[in-house]
Amino acid sequence: MTTSPSQPGPSGDIDSVLNETRLFQPPSAAELGLPGGAQWLVPSIGAYREMHRRSIEQPGEFWGSIAKELHWFTPWTSVVSWSPPDARWFDGATTNIAYNCLERQIQAGLGDRTAILWEGEPVGPSGPEVRRLSYRDLLCESSKLANALKAMGVRKGQVVTIYMGMVPELPIALLACARIGAPHSVIFGGFSAHAIADRLTDASSRTVITCDGAWRRGKVVPLKENVDAAVSQLEKAKPGAAAVDHVICLKRCGNTVEWNAGRDRWWHDVVDKASDQCPAERMNSEDMLFLLYTSGSTGKPKGIVHTTGGYMVHVYATAKYAWNFGDPAGAGGDAPLYWCTADIGWVTGHSYILYGILPNRVTSLMFEGAPNFPAEDRFWDIVERHRVTHFYTAPTAIRAFMKWGEKHPKKHDLSSLRILGTVGEPINPEAWMWYREHIGADRCPIVDTWWQTETGGFMIAPLPGAMPTKPGSCTLPFFGVDAAVVNEQGHEVGANKGGLLVIRRPWPGIIRGVHGDRDRFVQTYFSRVRDPATGQAYYFTGDGARRDADGYFWVMGRIDDVINVAGHRLGTMEIESALVSHPAVVEAAVVGMPHDIKGTGIAAFVTLGSGQRAGEDLRAALLEHVSREIGPIARPDSIRFTDALPKTRSGKIMRRLLRDIASGVENIRQDTTTLEDYSILAKLRGDDES
Ligand code: WTA
Repeated sequence: MTTSPSQPGPSGDIDSVLNETRLFQPPSAAELGLPGGAQWLVPSIGAYREMHRRSIEQPGEFWGSIAKELHWFTPWTSVVSWSPPDARWFDGATTNIAYNCLERQIQAGLGDRTAILWEGEPVGPSGPEVRRLSYRDLLCESSKLANALKAMGVRKGQVVTIYMGMVPELPIALLACARIGAPHSVIFGGFSAHAIADRLTDASSRTVITCDGAWRRGKVVPLKENVDAAVSQLEKAKPGAAAVDHVICLKRCGNTVEWNAGRDRWWHDVVDKASDQCPAERMNSEDMLFLLYTSGSTGKPKGIVHTTGGYMVHVYATAKYAWNFGDPAGAGGDAPLYWCTADIGWVTGHSYILYGILPNRVTSLMFEGAPNFPAEDRFWDIVERHRVTHFYTAPTAIRAFMKWGEKHPKKHDLSSLRILGTVGEPINPEAWMWYREHIGADRCPIVDTWWQTETGGFMIAPLPGAMPTKPGSCTLPFFGVDAAVVNEQGHEVGANKGGLLVIRRPWPGIIRGVHGDRDRFVQTYFSRVRDPATGQAYYFTGDGARRDADGYFWVMGRIDDVINVAGHRLGTMEIESALVSHPAVVEAAVVGMPHDIKGTGIAAFVTLGSGQRAGEDLRAALLEHVSREIGPIARPDSIRFTDALPKTRSGKIMRRLLRDIASGVENIRQDTTTLEDYSILAKLRGDDES
């Protein structure tokens, strides 16, 4: 009945081969056992449709009324204005998202409620280390760091780079920046020195917050060392000037670090003595909140800009409705315990560990380590011990759980779970079913959330009490989201026809820019598809999709040169550039290929310089080289050496052909180390894409 979603072609001509007909009705609130007789916030598909219609017809009223649930220092003069590609939300208003995460709850008498429940990776004789930070603790700690940053001269508008492991001090750092209006740029701890250097330069960021190291499967990832290497790379390129002014380093693993006395400060030295009183800066609604780098189809990282008011309202509202948080103020022991397994280095962690969750007064669980450390049941052990109610993870993790086997979740009592979420890539129907059956005991609704770094928060996702779900579909758009599947001319395609996924109106969390590159912002998102009647640009997502006869969306994946590996978007161009930067390589092409666990793996085709010999040693050296240049997540799963790459007459690499070849690899571990001439294949097929 089901097959995997097909890979879209390069121009939006997408064949859909997924034919999935299973349908699951949402459970009633009583069936699911919502505590204290609580009800679904949106209890039926009819109620959803009515709210959605209102949100589209009267966005000002709709979003204005949700925004009023939050705290603003001064009110807005207009809810939304739209002159594509520029949206402004809650213009004229001032607010602070850190205030909405912390003070707002404390003022409501919830200062002692746990905001962050953290569990460390190492498991000692008495179990893992667990820390509980109340809303008050978090206010105190983040205010101290905010004062320490101010004392170092960090001011509103200056970008602070954060490169840390999943420790409580990471959300503390984000909240400290937000408190003083210094936009943060968080770099995922799996990235290498080179990636840090690029991002520091692009953001003109002169302050870094890091850790000595981070725990990963019992080993220490040397974060401080990577920061040192990034800074020295920059200083080598521009001798005579310091590349950054301050590095604040948290001691986590106790590994040895080098110290630059004029630049480096221990977190405990600067934070412990700082005052815990730091009033939240009044931020204009459209002031930048953060920058988050993501992959595009060129080698240059793309700094996605999000601002304050609209983003805050979007992530608050989506979390509230998709997780059915309501206002658990009085729920006492039944209050939700929500766990998103993403790293804060990705947008999922920004929006749904921190900024969307704390304003909902919910406890957010944060886990430092890997799902299989020390054993493959670690996640289920955590769910059982802490009585997790909401669990949000990625298809790549679910496929790994499937591979490890259902015996692991079976060992644990998972009956506290109520809602299961997924994000990051299209979920295969088989994985969806496994998740429902083995984690959700056939009872918990599955909330498949489609969204992007650029959208800030959820765009298409089921509301768990309202929508019947179908395995593999992210169902219907969130309130205010006008999503459509169109052809290149902007016309909606018919039911079950593949096309380009676009959003036709602005939503509060919409991307506000690509840092320092207006042209790229316009070109990438607001030029490919237009309203056929008015010529006004639509927001182009870069994804292919289809809608079925019920209007449900089925996302088919990226249509450009970005591949989605284990839920992380990687620019093929960046990996190619890394390969080509090795002295033995003259040309490289990287494409996605099917991979059991990661969904999409990385296949590299490499042409060597004259006199270079293909072989296992070189293959190992190239893998190591890519890990060093970009990070282990970009390490190819297969490297093939070839005399020449198949190209069009205009010299473009024919990726479609390479994708076919890569997909045909029977055993991805058996790499071809001999030279082959794949360009012959192109000649034989007579393909000529231009
Ligand atoms: C893909 C992650 C199908 C999609 C929040 C999108 C998904 C890209 C889903 C964004 C989903 C994310 N179903 N595909 N539920 N969620 N994607 O920026 O291709 O890291 O464009 O944001 O991931 O990845 P990003």
